[in-house]
Amino acid sequence: MRGKLVVGNWKMHGGLRQNDALFADLRNGWAPAEGRRLAVCVPFPYLWQAQAALSGSAIAWGAQNISEHATGAFTGEVSAAMVAEFGCRYVIVGHSERRTLFAESDAVVAAKAAAAMAAGLTPIVCVGESLQEREAGSTEAVVSRQLDAVVARVGRRIAETVLAYEPVWAIGTGLTASPDQAQAVHALLRARLHSVDAGAADAPVLYGGSVKADNARALFACPDVDGGLVGGASLKAGEFLEIASA
Ligand code: PGA
Repeated sequence: MRGKLVVGNWKMHGGLRQNDALFADLRNGWAPAEGRRLAVCVPFPYLWQAQAALSGSAIAWGAQNISEHATGAFTGEVSAAMVAEFGCRYVIVGHSERRTLFAESDAVVAAKAAAAMAAGLTPIVCVGESLQEREAGSTEAVVSRQLDAVVARVGRRIAETVLAYEPVWAIGTGLTASPDQAQAVHALLRARLHSVDAGAADAPVLYGGSVKADNARALFACPDVDGGLVGGASLKAGEFLEIASA
């Protein structure tokens, strides 16, 4: 049983006071259930606040990015070990916004996944095609290439990661992949994981891209969808909690 994992991706949103309220609402509202896991990935400056607010609860927390380097002269960067000091369990790597706006290559994303694991964090590795790539029929080629780059770097330890399929055209757009579209790509990713190692086929594969309370249940009902990576809807405690129990 892989269970369900729902992870909030706050992106560059938040503030000390509003975070306090959101953390409290999540903590008070989340009733842990068998096979259900919940986490939030917050901006770096709020990791201490997540740790203070969520320690001892059933909600995990994480970061949204890390450097691929362990230490050194990299002004403005944050290492996996630094993030780990704040009790993080997860870190998102290779989000499409990082790939497109910050020019992160497949190789850099793979190095970040490896750096995360070296620091004891679970990387949430994002893959996904653009609208142009989908229309050109290259969805399979794109997500396979993105996953294979990480496998080439971490090998069978891919089993210790979380994958997130996030079609770029569905992120923040209100356009969601249909359950059939999501399931098709998830099945492909699962088969690819299985070809690396039978055990790796049990790595959670999350769907992301305009997941909302009103579409989560249908998406999560797909046999290869193990939960969601949720952006906008993770900023509202009520809706996020509804998604988490969908
Ligand atoms: P969205 O973002 O839910 O706002 O579409 C998802 C993500 O970018 O992880």
